[in-house]
Amino acid sequence: MTRPLAIVTGSSRGIGRAVVDALLTHDWDVTGVARGEPEGLTHPHYSHVTCDLDDLDAVTQKFEQVAAQGQLADRSRIGLVNNAAILDIESVASSSLQNLDRSMRVNVTVPVWLHGWLCRTAPASARLRIVDVSSGAATSPYPGWVAYCASKAALDMAGQVLAEELGEVDSMRGRDLALVSFAPGVVATGMQETIRGADEREFPRRQRFVELHEEGALIDAAGPAAEVAELLGRDDLPPFSRRRFGD
Ligand SMILES: NC(=O)c1ccc[n+]([C@@H]2O[C@H](COP(=O)([O-])OP(=O)(O)OC[C@H]3O[C@@H](n4cnc5c(N)ncnc54)[C@H](OP(=O)(O)O)[C@@H]3O)[C@@H](O)[C@H]2O)c1
Repeated sequence: MTRPLAIVTGSSRGIGRAVVDALLTHDWDVTGVARGEPEGLTHPHYSHVTCDLDDLDAVTQKFEQVAAQGQLADRSRIGLVNNAAILDIESVASSSLQNLDRSMRVNVTVPVWLHGWLCRTAPASARLRIVDVSSGAATSPYPGWVAYCASKAALDMAGQVLAEELGEVDSMRGRDLALVSFAPGVVATGMQETIRGADEREFPRRQRFVELHEEGALIDAAGPAAEVAELLGRDDLPPFSRRRFGD
């Protein structure tokens, strides 16, 4: 039996870093992807791909390299955690074309392309488990978060399309693939610091997030990370499902 392999985007810090730690504890090989490396992590079963997911040429090249290195060959279980995302805070009236495009690339275009890359690259017999890190913002509109809300909603729909293709697209028939759209809750990471530091004129609900922080209501990343690791190890998942941490 080969060791399972997981590819985790946004592995340098926050929830992604905690997912890496959880997977390594459970004997996974992990390939992490981010611009920065996870601080202080040297582990024989962790390898890092330095990549800016906003740079489509770099993404193509780096993932071609991963495929060519044979990292996925002979694996019976492969996980993909589409975790990296950005939250640019701008109201619709002041949003810039560049920022909108960047959020869509990092939060939707590349994760959806990675769904396809995994299907093309993994052995046909491998059990594929994908966790797309979602958010309550996929279904609840937040003023100032237009690109983030729209991108998370789009990623959730892309996951549903992939699941539908399992039964209807020839190359996907018979694949053992399950995708979970996973909302981690309000987690104590750099993204929450960005939210608390936002300009209230662009993000009128900022104070609510300051209060959550002051009340000690933010979740430690280890909790949702453990659940992500558990989902990647599961056999009994439907092709598409949604989870919220703690439910
Ligand atoms: N924190 C929360 O309360 C919360 C709530 C709901 C959902 N989420 C979701 O959880 C996931 C992780 O969020 P987080 O809170 O852990 O965020 P975070 O602390 O800001 O970390 C984001 C991660 O994404 C990577 N990343 C960002 N831009 C990138 C780029 N252009 N290329 C490559 N990597 C990039 C960062 O790595 P580098 O900077 O090193 O590249 C970092 O590892 C996201 O999908 C987020 O939407 C978070």
